[in-house]
Amino acid sequence: EVWNPSGKYRVVSTKSMPGTRWIRLLTDNDCRLEVCTEQKTILSVDDILALIGDRCDGVIGQLTEDWGDVLFSALKRAGGTAFSNMAVGYNNVDVVAANRNGIAVGNTPGVLTETTAELAASLTLSAARRIVEADQFMRAGLYDGWLPHLFVGNLLKGQTVGVIGAGRIGSAYARMMIEGFKMNLIYYDLYQATRLEKFVTAYGQFLKANGEEPVTWERAATMEDVLREADVISLHPVLDKTTYHLINPERLAIMKKDAVLVNASRGPVIDEVALVEHLKANPMFRVGLDVFEDEPYMKPGLADMKNAVVVPHIASASKWTREGMATLTALNVLGKIKGYPVWGNPNQ
Ligand code: DGY
Repeated sequence: EVWNPSGKYRVVSTKSMPGTRWIRLLTDNDCRLEVCTEQKTILSVDDILALIGDRCDGVIGQLTEDWGDVLFSALKRAGGTAFSNMAVGYNNVDVVAANRNGIAVGNTPGVLTETTAELAASLTLSAARRIVEADQFMRAGLYDGWLPHLFVGNLLKGQTVGVIGAGRIGSAYARMMIEGFKMNLIYYDLYQATRLEKFVTAYGQFLKANGEEPVTWERAATMEDVLREADVISLHPVLDKTTYHLINPERLAIMKKDAVLVNASRGPVIDEVALVEHLKANPMFRVGLDVFEDEPYMKPGLADMKNAVVVPHIASASKWTREGMATLTALNVLGKIKGYPVWGNPNQ
């Protein structure tokens, strides 16, 4: 699909994206926009090379694509200078290769923080209160009356939520769980978690001033402290060499037997084969997963586990956020082409 065919700058989007603002931004600014209409979900490097062609100023790409030297050098040869990933995570992008080829890389931070944290909170509640299992039970016609033992799960109030990775999304999630469910917090992060600490300090003062029960919070010295102490653990790190299989058999073994583990970051942060074994051995242990090690696939056995809630990488999938992400990709690409600031810049 081609928009504004006479535009001076050729911009390619490897997928159609929600909303129209991103299209208008590009076409109102002298871009000829070509949106790939290929039906298959994941484009190969060859598919994308064909889209780049001989002349291309910028590309909007997706997290399912492998943006390495082959694509960036082709984009450079085609005269391109700009690439934006439609995601905040950019583990699919070799930023060094992009820079080597003179291509600026953009991502979409900010607009997906609350939406992603809300999905992590939804997974927490779904896993803790066995919502999906109970839904399936109802639909199968198995409900034949109230029972004291039916789908007993975990209460969140007064329990401890553990957050690993206290950046934007981890902090928003922590805030939701503390404020919404009066959970205590333990978190681990390599960097300062100023945003989160300001919130918990102010919230603590608010509770005190109103004579309400306090919540506690603690910055853990090690990740193991979080895993040992928390009743709910939510993972929010970036994926890189240091966080690959962060959750491994040894770390699973130190978690509480009835803990809830949530992952809405990147699949390879968890050793999924080890997780399946752990779920089999510990029926009271529950997980809520938005992401998987080999997307779009799940490791064998995971789909059979009643103590797992699984959804297809939809953490940022609210209309407002997806339209915002699309808009930011357009701003990123335009920024580089026209010399405006690039919104999300992993090099900053
Ligand atoms: C991201 O932005 O990194 C999410 O995984 C998709 O929104």
